[in-house]
Amino acid sequence: MTELRHITSINDLTNHEIETTFSLADKYLSELGDIRPTGRTAKKRSLTTHRIGRSGHAGTGSILASLFYEPSTRTRLSFESAMLRLGGGTITSSDPATSSAAKGESLADTARVVSSYADAIVIRHPRDGAAKLAAQYASIPVVNAGDGGHEHPTQTLCDLFTLYRREKQRLKNLNNLNVVISGDLRGSRTVHSFVYALARFKARIQFVPGAEGMGLPPHVEWRLRNEFHCLPEDRKVGEDDVDLFYVTADQSHQLSLITPETGIKMAKAKKAIDVIYVTRFQKERWKDQAQSYLKVDSAFLKDNKYKRTSVLHPLPRVGELDIALDRNPRAAYFQQASFGVPVRMALIAALLDFEGQHSLEKFASGFRPDSHVLYEQPRGSGIVCANPNCIVHDPLDGIYATNKHYIVDWLKPRLRCFYCENDIESFYVGHKKTRHYGLAGEAGKHMRDVILFADRTAAEAAGYKARKSLSRVAKA
Ligand code: NCD
Repeated sequence: MTELRHITSINDLTNHEIETTFSLADKYLSELGDIRPTGRTAKKRSLTTHRIGRSGHAGTGSILASLFYEPSTRTRLSFESAMLRLGGGTITSSDPATSSAAKGESLADTARVVSSYADAIVIRHPRDGAAKLAAQYASIPVVNAGDGGHEHPTQTLCDLFTLYRREKQRLKNLNNLNVVISGDLRGSRTVHSFVYALARFKARIQFVPGAEGMGLPPHVEWRLRNEFHCLPEDRKVGEDDVDLFYVTADQSHQLSLITPETGIKMAKAKKAIDVIYVTRFQKERWKDQAQSYLKVDSAFLKDNKYKRTSVLHPLPRVGELDIALDRNPRAAYFQQASFGVPVRMALIAALLDFEGQHSLEKFASGFRPDSHVLYEQPRGSGIVCANPNCIVHDPLDGIYATNKHYIVDWLKPRLRCFYCENDIESFYVGHKKTRHYGLAGEAGKHMRDVILFADRTAAEAAGYKARKSLSRVAKA
């Protein structure tokens, strides 16, 4: 029996798995021919199954189902192209208005049903954590193609693969890259997956929010610091970068993070920026329009440290990346989009074990910065995820979600939603036997038979009384 693997986060893949996926993507790329950003010649466009050799048959008989509840061009088409190139087939539901979603069918039921029509599901959904919910109900592998503002792991594979291909000669491997990330760092799911991966490959990351309030979400930043061991960089080191980059940043995110392994030495030694990753304003995840937004153009890139920088963008771009850069050799974004096919071919082949030695099941079950305990409460009781866009709050799908949180830390209380991975930083703990409640963290790790509450009102509404210590705190 093969182990069922889902890719809902970039952290479901180990660094080794990412590298192995890239070596398979390399093989597919060479079989496909060199896909050039400016488009193929007519001859190359006539690529046929026999030209892609064994890979053209590797997936024969397999079916990929794409379930897209949000618009997509690159991700869906490159996934489908990848499966077709592997010799498999695709079935698609890309318009919620013409699928059973319009009749009110839940994602959970759809995932169960589609599991008997296909061998893998690729899903995109406006809700954070939707891919995790689909994975809970599917009996085939589920791949997250973007869930709300949470993550977009396969875009990160394309981003890293682009760097791996471009920098192979110069840098030997993906470690220690010097990266600038600009734009809507809060709303861009691509950024969230990308920064976790970069941190794991020991990058130095500098953040340039596109406008005020667009810094990294606090829980992502917390994870970078506490679980991926990033450190805020000493301002004296590389101070040119910091001054330039944080002009438009909002204060709480004026951070540049480096990993201790590479540390100050690297920051001193290396001022040249290897990559700038530009993102658009994610208008669908904000209530209001952005007043002004950072634009990356040749003026922005004129500094010497950008001389050899690869300019990446997950696309679509909507004005934040000057089209005049398209002919510049530093522009890597169309190549990045074209790598969607070999990278996704490799991921599908690994997940579905088309190639034997590359199969993901042979690796450990994914990278986990920490093995957190899962805490589950009966539905309708106790604490719920604080992220209003989480799938647990979906009017249709919420009832299929379990009330589960990872306990990240009891002593300095922090709960992480099982689905969307947003954190709750303060909560109350009620003891079922004594029917008393207190602030989490007070009672240390001895937490048997407890129920968690978001606030005191909820605890008291459930019939719990404040512990003496808590009453004292309240009075003081
Ligand atoms: C990204 C997405 O959907 O998050 N697009 C993509 O998949 N290439 C980026 C974006 O929409 O801004």
